[in-house]
Amino acid sequence: MTSINPKITPIYQTSVFKFQDLDELESYFQDPGSRYLYSRNGNPNSDELATAINALEGGAGGVVTASGMAAIFASILAYCQGGDHVLCAADIYGGSAALLNTELSRLGITVTYVPFEQLYDLRPFVQPTTRLLLAETISNPLLRVADLRRLATECHGLGLKLVVDNTFATPLLTQPLALGADISLHSVTKYLAGHSDVTAGVAVAADPEIAARLRQIGVFYGLTLSPMESWLAVRGLKTLRLRVREHCHNAQAVAEMLSRHPAVREVYYPGLPTHAQHALAREQGQGLFGGMLSILLPDDQEAVSRFMRRSQRFPFAPSLAGVDSSLSYPLGTSHRALTAEQQRELGITVGLVRLSVGIEPAEELLADLQQALNG
Ligand SMILES: Cc1ncc(COP(=O)(O)O)c(C=O)c1O
Repeated sequence: MTSINPKITPIYQTSVFKFQDLDELESYFQDPGSRYLYSRNGNPNSDELATAINALEGGAGGVVTASGMAAIFASILAYCQGGDHVLCAADIYGGSAALLNTELSRLGITVTYVPFEQLYDLRPFVQPTTRLLLAETISNPLLRVADLRRLATECHGLGLKLVVDNTFATPLLTQPLALGADISLHSVTKYLAGHSDVTAGVAVAADPEIAARLRQIGVFYGLTLSPMESWLAVRGLKTLRLRVREHCHNAQAVAEMLSRHPAVREVYYPGLPTHAQHALAREQGQGLFGGMLSILLPDDQEAVSRFMRRSQRFPFAPSLAGVDSSLSYPLGTSHRALTAEQQRELGITVGLVRLSVGIEPAEELLADLQQALNG
């Protein structure tokens, strides 16, 4: 018989696995880790992805999900039920706020938003039913950096869990669990998969019981990831280290150039010495500052549109972290659902443009941005 020894895991594009007889079925239920039953419950490709990300995050296990949103949902459900209350950093991806405001509220899970400056003094926000704080390592879209060790101490002192969205940082910059967080989650759609061709998420826990709970929520709510998407994400993950290095290098060069450009009113990038959390970002990010930055153009829609039209290397595509650069417009996309007052308070104004700096030659990106701004 021909021996088939693929170097990499093939795509197990099957929704279900065969059993020879009832003995085999019983052996599965005795030891579910020994074989596969049904792809929603587990599949070699999604397991390979979960294992690889769990290793990068230093976790006790977790679940890969069909989107980052599903990972946020699973993480909150891992600790909360109807009647519970959560705290959420006010600087958060708009989709996370929308999930909390419009859907989890219907399940009886209420939320209070905590301004960035008050994150290390949570007591005034805590209720008897408060279970956790949700925060981002590096916030979307203003790139504020949270001190995760301090946050974990603050949360645990008040009996709360800390759930961290580590999407912008990646585990190469920061491993939230090592700093005391209870769950680290990602939109795998972004840096972990890295090529703008996958929608996926992951939630990894420090505690094996919570890891098992995350997997159960994934299975029962049907949040788990397909074999093909898992396979693509595994492939992307193999170059994460190389990509992140280049993203960071290019973003630093872009941030420095833009901070000197007269058409740019402000650059938000943790790698600039003027950034309010620059020292923390350096320490918590292993000297890397990420590939995302935001800039403030004049608060004039036409100026923003002109910049978008003129740039050839930063197409307006409302996602981030692909190998190819892109830009997004928080006011019109990710943070659209916020009230005008919330948008103003967070600094999400007409002139705010978010850049996802790719891994193209840096000089080409700089030249493109310069000609787009000079127009
Ligand atoms: C920081 C952050 N978390 C979570 C998400 C949601 O991820 P997904 O779009 O994969 O559901 C996003 C999406 O942009 C994000 O930027």
